[in-house]
Order: sequence, then structure tokens, then C-alpha cells
Amino acid sequence: MAYLLVYGKLPTSRELARYKEHLGEMRDIPQALKDVLERIPASANPMDVMRTGCSMLGALEPEDQFHDEKYVADRLMAAFPSIMLYWYHYAHHGRRIDTQTDEDSLAGHFLHLLHGKKPDELLRRCTDVSLILYAEHEFNASTFVARVTVSTRSDIYSSVTSAIGALKGPLHGGANEAAMLLIQKFNSPDEAEKGVMELLARKELIMGFGHRVYKKEDPRSVVIQKWAKDLCQHNDTMNLYNTALRIDEVVRREKKMFTNLDFYSAVAYRECGIPIELFTPLFVVSRTSGWTAHILEQRHNNKLIRPSADYTGPEPRAYLPLSDRG
Ligand code: ACO
Repeated sequence: MAYLLVYGKLPTSRELARYKEHLGEMRDIPQALKDVLERIPASANPMDVMRTGCSMLGALEPEDQFHDEKYVADRLMAAFPSIMLYWYHYAHHGRRIDTQTDEDSLAGHFLHLLHGKKPDELLRRCTDVSLILYAEHEFNASTFVARVTVSTRSDIYSSVTSAIGALKGPLHGGANEAAMLLIQKFNSPDEAEKGVMELLARKELIMGFGHRVYKKEDPRSVVIQKWAKDLCQHNDTMNLYNTALRIDEVVRREKKMFTNLDFYSAVAYRECGIPIELFTPLFVVSRTSGWTAHILEQRHNNKLIRPSADYTGPEPRAYLPLSDRG
């Protein structure tokens, strides 16, 4: 999927093998970046770590060092799991991990670095599917931000850094974490029904529901819901799945609203043993392929993106010198 987005076509089996090898070779991160990551406290939001890591990598390996701009896209995809998990293990357990593994997929590499061992194939496949679903989604907020930044003729790292900032918010990528925090508040489907009815009565947003583009159903959600269910069956945690399902049923019934990709992704990630605070950073790993595809497209047919605004503020007022303003 990443190859398709960045290189514009599906790879042949030779190209795919070479691409995986190429991404595998780009996983190490420079010592200066590790030094910076070691200075970020365990209390930091991991999305701030991703933003800082991206920015620092851009300072150490500026774009003109690569002979092909697509290499920067690949470098970021390969380096992001290392950035996230080097920091995570150091900040939480004081361990400096080796950021290389022999895994040949981003999903497998991420899970291996996280858990320190070869992942179970079912969990790897689920994470892989989730990365595919998250990879690209047209003109969402973070992609738009990335295009605005590169439209000023800025560099790819700056564009991705701005996109990470936009993705962090709970109305966008941060919703997968917010959805899990909601689901895990309830111990049973009945408790969830009562709790969600109260939230709706207070007109609160239910995270992981609704979408600016989809008005009937998010087709990505259907795919990840099945994975969430299968994993809960596999892990014998059907109470969690049934609690999430009840929230889904109540919101559908009461608000005629449906789950977006983030809702059941939260359950699936949880069942893959991924800590909640890494849900949105994992979204970054995947969406980097979509962001960079947009960035390159914008750059090659560029015009500065500069919206105009209709002024609706106060009428013009006379200027008073400071000495006359009291
Ligand atoms: N829970 C409760 N009410 C909601 C929700 C929700 N999740 N989403 C929308 N509504 C309400 C709105 O408040 C609005 O009510 P109003 O008419 O009384 O003001 C009404 O439904 C219509 O909203 P829309 O115009 O369809 O929603 P909008 O396009 O403005 O917002 C958004 C889309 C931001 C995704 C919204 O649905 C939301 O905040 N959802 C929760 C956050 C979330 O899950 N974000 C993830 C998006 S997908 C992604 O980034 C991968």
C-alpha cells in the first residue's frame, strides 16, 4: 500500500521484495536523535514525541541529502516505529532498545519492537490491515495541513511535522485513543448503555462516531470491526467487544450515527497489546504514506494555498496614540 501511494503503482514481486529490504535498511535512527528522545519525559504525549522526532530527523538528514525525494517518505515510514519505541522503552523502563528487527513488514516490525519478540501472526496481520486502512484518506485535516505547508515550498519533514500536529487532536486521529478511554470505563454492555445514554443527554460527543465525509457508514469500520471481534474471540475478551458493540448500537439507535475507523480500531489495537497512548502514533506510521503522496503531488503541480477570509469583526475605529488611551 505504501509503495502504491508513494510510487504510484502496485509493485511487482521483485519490486516489493526490494522495497521491503530498502525500508528495513532505513530503520536505524541517528545517535543525536536518540539523545533528544532520551530527554523527553515519560509524561509527554507520544504524539509530541513523533512531532519532535520528525522535526529532529529533518534537521539531521535534510531533504537535499537524498537523491530522490521519495526516499524521505520511505525514511520517515521506516524511522517512525524506531522513534516512537526507542523513546517509549527508554522513558518507561530506562532501556535503550536496538531498533533493528528481521521483520519484513512495518506492522511486524512495530509489534516486535514494542513487545521485544516476534509477533503472533494473527496480531501482525490485524495491525497490517489497520495500517492499510489508515494509510490514505483524501483531504482530511492533517493531509490538508501537510499540503498547505509544502505549498509554501517548504520541505517534506516540515510538512509531515505540521500534519502530526493536526492528527493529534481528538476530533481527528486522537479519536482512537479517546474511544478506548470511553469503552474501558464500562464493565459490561448494560453499564455502557446507561453511561452512553447519559452522555447523549448531556449532548457530549461520543468519540469514534460520525464523519465529515461519510454520512451513512464508514466502509473502513466494517473491516476493522470484524478484526476486533475475531481478536476478542481469540483472546477470550468478548465482554470488551460486546461492550463496544452496545455503545455502537445505542449511538446508532439514538443518534442515527455510525462508527468511524477509530472506534473498532481502538478495540483491535487493545487486543494486539498496544498501549492506548500509542494508538495515534501508530496512525502516524501509516498515514505518512498518504501524507507524503499528497506532499509530492502538491509539490509537482504547486500553487501557494492561501485561503481568503470574509471579515466580520468590528467596524473601523480611530487610532488613538498610547498616551491618549489612559
Ligand atoms: N457524538 C455525538 N454527536 C455528534 C458526533 C458524535 N461523535 N458527531 C457529530 N455529532 C453531532 C454534531 O454535534 C452535530 O450536532 P448539532 O447539529 O446538534 O450541532 C451533528 O451531529 C452533525 O454533525 P456533523 O455535521 O455530521 O459532524 P461534523 O462533520 O461537524 O464533524 C466529526 C465530524 C468531527 C468527525 C464529528 O462527527 C466528531 O466530532 N466525531 C467524534 C470525533 C471522532 O470520532 N473523530 C474521528 C474522525 S475519523 C478520523 O479521523 C480517522
